[in-house]
Amino acid sequence: MGTCVSVGIIGLGHVGAHVANSLMLQGIADELLLCDIASGDEDNSRKLAAEVQDLSDSLAFCSHNVRIESCGEDYAALASCDVVVNAAGKVRLAAQDRDGELFYTTDTARRFIPVLARAGFSGVWVTVANPCDVVATQIWKLGGFDPRRVIGTGTQLDSARFRHVLSRETGIDQHSVGAYMLGEHGATQFACWSQVNFGGKPLAELEREEPARFSLDRPALEDAARRGGYVAMAGKMCTEYAVANAAARLVRAVVSNEHAVLACSTLMDGVYGEEGLFCSVPCVVGGSGVEALMVPDLTGPEQAAFHASCAHIRENLGRVGL
Ligand code: 2OP
Repeated sequence: MGTCVSVGIIGLGHVGAHVANSLMLQGIADELLLCDIASGDEDNSRKLAAEVQDLSDSLAFCSHNVRIESCGEDYAALASCDVVVNAAGKVRLAAQDRDGELFYTTDTARRFIPVLARAGFSGVWVTVANPCDVVATQIWKLGGFDPRRVIGTGTQLDSARFRHVLSRETGIDQHSVGAYMLGEHGATQFACWSQVNFGGKPLAELEREEPARFSLDRPALEDAARRGGYVAMAGKMCTEYAVANAAARLVRAVVSNEHAVLACSTLMDGVYGEEGLFCSVPCVVGGSGVEALMVPDLTGPEQAAFHASCAHIRENLGRVGL
């Protein structure tokens, strides 16, 4: 990582703009190179110029100066970035289901993946666009990038939603809750209940010792985590803050070489027998991307749920010829 941390963002809709803002407010990047996606029916260049101006106007309120540059559709300009964030989606297609964006996001990604591959991009991808696991697999396959340098935000966001509902139910601060949603960032994701702990103490023990506080309605809480994005969608037709902060969290883990354990979408290379597609498990994330997988010891039903997630991702990959 150079001394100047340079982050590229492709797609300056709700999510991309909030990623930029989050990186600026947290002092994670020194330079932001912003690209958009031209489309016949929308004047995205005006939108991009407006985002650059609005972000630049807020620099006075940030503790850290950031160089912000608009690169239009010149994706090759991002080749020397430490991290490129892919936030190119069309949220209204996902009103019912993230799979609704499948054809749009994979068609769009075909416009910049080969360009960045040819330009020699050797940084780390953090990809947000849905269906997240499919697009992450596409970036790896189509671009021929080192798979450990491709990270999908995956169930990091769902895991945050899960910790939030567990915290709300038990009154334990969410930073002291160890809990993951795993599998697909989509309807087939599942709660890894066997590993849930509060301050390191397993939920199963706490349930026995303090049932009034820790006997939880597991299906309801799992469902709340799984449907969190759709509660936001129903109310405001997008989700933006949490997903953008999930992406920014991954960028920070990379550029600060944190070796942080985060649930994110990574290439399956034999995990429970799964191969050749991206799916979320807890990973060690640092300067070179995913440094190691921390695959939990799943129970039989959890393993079945994991395979069901992989089957769904594989089916979507087939629908777009990947
Ligand atoms: C979310 O879960 C829609 O994937 C987006 O917020």
